[in-house]
Amino acid sequence: MTLIDRDAAFWNKIAPKYAAGRIADMAGYERSVDRTRGLLTSSDVVLEIGCGTGTTALAIAPGIRRIVATDLSEAMIAIAREKAQAVPGIDAHFAVGTAETSPEVDGGYDAVLAFNLLHLVHDRAATLRAIRHRLKAGGLLITKTPALAEMNLLIRLAIPLMRAIGKAPFVSTFSASDLEAELAVAGYAVLAAERHGSKRWDPRTFIIARKAEDGTDQP
Ligand SMILES: C[S@@+](CC[C@H](N)C(=O)[O-])C[C@H]1O[C@@H](n2cnc3c(N)ncnc32)[C@H](O)[C@@H]1O
Repeated sequence: MTLIDRDAAFWNKIAPKYAAGRIADMAGYERSVDRTRGLLTSSDVVLEIGCGTGTTALAIAPGIRRIVATDLSEAMIAIAREKAQAVPGIDAHFAVGTAETSPEVDGGYDAVLAFNLLHLVHDRAATLRAIRHRLKAGGLLITKTPALAEMNLLIRLAIPLMRAIGKAPFVSTFSASDLEAELAVAGYAVLAAERHGSKRWDPRTFIIARKAEDGTDQP
């Protein structure tokens, strides 16, 4: 079983519970969605990676031309496709895939979204390169990512134990500034790094990064 198969098995198993769950900080989530909408235009073609059950893709879709949304979990994608049927007049395509296997479009995407995903991938540098490859020149990567290095030590210690008993996914620990440095190395210019949480401390960094002219552009 590959790492990706193992991850997919975890997310397939929890997909129904994930779909039924509440967003913990709805005000913070809405702020991120509004900020994202404000960066997009009605002619944009957008890719979302790690789309889960499609909540964000379907919230963004009415304001853009087309959204392609992918996730490694077949069960998540099945739920997203079902939810999409209830949203008329949008062009949304859901498919199983990772950053490396997501569909490419001629000329590249105007923007790629990765919400609550980058801490879950095993090779973040490869993921950032694959996203960059799918963006048009000057296109935006918009990402919201838990910076686990900034979280409570107890939570960080509990995650590997929970993973050992199948109750948590693979996660990697890094700070927001680590991620910004990785983005620069991968050929992005970080335009903004924000926190949108409505509670006292939000460990999730919301980053807007533009595909820089120079840098590696590998599939
Ligand atoms: C925490 S959920 C976030 C879902 C959605 N983006 C959101 O913000 O609600 C993480 C999602 O990423 C997917 N995922 C995990 N690893 C992935 C990978 N390497 N490539 C693509 N999707 C992945 C999981 O299947 C899951 O649906």
